[in-house]
Amino acid sequence: MSKFKIAYLPGDGVGVEVLEAAIIVLDKTGFDAEYIHGDIGWEYWCKEGDAFPIRTIELLKNVDAALFGAITSKPVKAAQAELIPELQKKGLTYRSPIVRMRQMFDLYNCLRPCKGYAGNPLNYKENIDLVVFRENTEGMYSGVEFSPVPEELSSLLAKISKPFAPFKDLSSDQYAISCKINTKNGSERIIRAAFEFAKKFNRKKVTVVHKSNVVRATDGLFLEMAKEVRKDFPDIAMDDANIDAITMWLLKNPHNYDVLVAPNLFGDIISDLCAQMVGGLGFGCSGNIGTKLAVFEPTHGSAPKYAGMYKVNPIATILSAKMMLDWLGEKELGYKIEKATTEIIKEGKVKTYDMGGSNTTIEMADAIAKKIQ
Ligand code: IPM
Ligand code: MG
Repeated sequence: MSKFKIAYLPGDGVGVEVLEAAIIVLDKTGFDAEYIHGDIGWEYWCKEGDAFPIRTIELLKNVDAALFGAITSKPVKAAQAELIPELQKKGLTYRSPIVRMRQMFDLYNCLRPCKGYAGNPLNYKENIDLVVFRENTEGMYSGVEFSPVPEELSSLLAKISKPFAPFKDLSSDQYAISCKINTKNGSERIIRAAFEFAKKFNRKKVTVVHKSNVVRATDGLFLEMAKEVRKDFPDIAMDDANIDAITMWLLKNPHNYDVLVAPNLFGDIISDLCAQMVGGLGFGCSGNIGTKLAVFEPTHGSAPKYAGMYKVNPIATILSAKMMLDWLGEKELGYKIEKATTEIIKEGKVKTYDMGGSNTTIEMADAIAKKIQ
């Protein structure tokens, strides 16, 4: 029997290719795992009306961790049009499986390290080493949305809203509502995770990202919780910044930042920005971490236009696999992956198209695997 049970969730588009590449590298480390394939992705939406079927949810309840590729998604109407005719009649609504998975398994910590490896031609500046902690289950992703707005809600809002309410005299199909919901517990635990990480890895500072000058209730709560949590970590500096300003400051001087913690949508935004500074989405690795389960995935999407071409850079997924090993306590194996990846990038001989080369996804994985002893 293998030591670990890992759910293997390729999804679709380039998700399939990058996961194949990650396994080549994982196998070379000697990682002792049984991989169990899970049905997930666009194909299952079209055939079954659910891109994340119950059987896959059950599978995730019985594994140590999961590796996830990517899934194609489309706007609501286009998604409905792809369903088989019987399902189209049911008027099903497409919701991103990864967002559902994060909420269903309470994978509250979206951890996205962005490290610029020496020699990467795509580095924005040298020695960038940022770590983003993104709240992963609530905020703008709460999924509480209305379009059209139900009558009870629109009349309630008309009654309780402040003087400037542009929707007040509109009929309920003339506006839409997406709720941003932040809880104290949800905010506290992600902020604590960021501080604990900073303490463990001797990081100097945690920057709290928000927009509390305007979005006062929810982001105000987030910032208040940060001030509370910070009391338990007196040796770690904390500062905070508005989401708009931080995008500018990060570009201007990334070396002023270290660990960043943000509510869901802002974390989504800054993690793409930080990934771009260390080589783009081909280098953006990520973990969705809960207390019982963790799902590791590249930050990039399914890139349908490249699907099947074995062209995209697998490093983001390979580094996500390294994060999985760390989370499972297999740190020595994780270290081997990072060391080999670092060497390949530094040598600069094997390069995928994004790095200005023409090596395939699998050639990159093979090269990294070859460096592992
Ligand atoms: C990410 C992605 C997802 C998100 C999409 C695919 C739903 O952008 O993981 O950052 O918005 O969280
Ligand atoms: Mg994103």
